[in-house]
Formats: sequence, structure tokens, C-alpha cells
Amino acid sequence: MNPIPTGLGAYEINHCMRVARLCKLWMDSMPWLQLDWCRLIAAAQVHDFGKRRIIPAILNKKDRLTETDWAEIQRHPEWSKDWINSQAGDSMIALIAYQHHESPNGKGYPTKTKDILPEAAVLKICDVYDALTCDREYRKGYSQETTLIIMQEEARNEKLSGVFMGLFLKVIAPPQLPLPLGTIS
Ligand SMILES: [Fe+2]
Repeated sequence: MNPIPTGLGAYEINHCMRVARLCKLWMDSMPWLQLDWCRLIAAAQVHDFGKRRIIPAILNKKDRLTETDWAEIQRHPEWSKDWINSQAGDSMIALIAYQHHESPNGKGYPTKTKDILPEAAVLKICDVYDALTCDREYRKGYSQETTLIIMQEEARNEKLSGVFMGLFLKVIAPPQLPLPLGTIS
């Protein structure tokens, strides 16, 4: 793939790199899982690159998002997919990135599909962990303990894969093994 495209902020780039590192931790910890690890990690590195097309006034907005703002933000998986296809031509990497906001309950975006690649389900867990533990303009990052409580609730509500969330808790982020928090790493 070509170098990082213009129009992305430091937060988005660093977030993608941290999420990719978390995905690699999954690979190192659970190599027996039948996942396409190379494509998962590649997708993680660029999964939010579509955000370069979001208007900066919306992307960096500190106030509450309007419906229009939200509709614009929800297009970023599609734009990430388009960018990946234009650069690498690997449709599987593009599809993993495209599905990183889909939910098992069919209420995710952009398509509300329940037919989610397992790689995309793992990517979503890593994405949510990093996003919640990061300091943002509008809130401080949550601790690992609080983040895992929030994520377990999301798994109960089928916003996250229950199976992969179970593995995340058991293998990747048990309470006795603190992971780096988003902003720190
Ligand atoms: Fe995203």
C-alpha cells in the first residue's frame, strides 16, 4: 500500500497503529484461532483511513453530533474500503475494514449485516477497547476495568461478538494483566 494518505489526523493514525498491535497480540496469544491474521492486521492498520474524507468540522467536533454529522461519520467504513481497494486491490482486507462497525445484533453500520467476518468481529473489539481507553477532547480515557465492564455490556447486547469478547477477557485482557491504555502506548 502507498504511504498514509493526506487528510488524516494524528489521532486516527495512532489509533489504527494501536489497534493493529492489539490484533497482533491476538495472533500471538491465540495462533490456533482459524483467522486470516495477515489480512486482519493489515485491515486494522488502515481501518479508519476513510475518515480522511469526513469534513474536519465534523470529525473534530466537540459538541453533540447532529443526525447529519452522524450520517457523514457512518460513511467512513465505506471510504476506508474504497481507499484500500484503490491502493492494494485486496478485497478481503477491504471487507474486514468495511465491517468494523457492524454488530451481531444487526444494528451496526454501514449495512446492518449480521453476516460478519470473524476478522472484522475481532477488529471491532480491538477498536472499541482502544477508543474507550483513549483520552479525547470531550472525555478522559476510561480505565481498563471500566472499559471491560462497558464492553461486556455491549457483548450482552450483541453489539460485540460474545464469543470473541469471551476470548478477549480470558486471554488478552484478564484483570491481572493490564493492557496498555490507548493514549499511553
Ligand atoms: Fe471506525
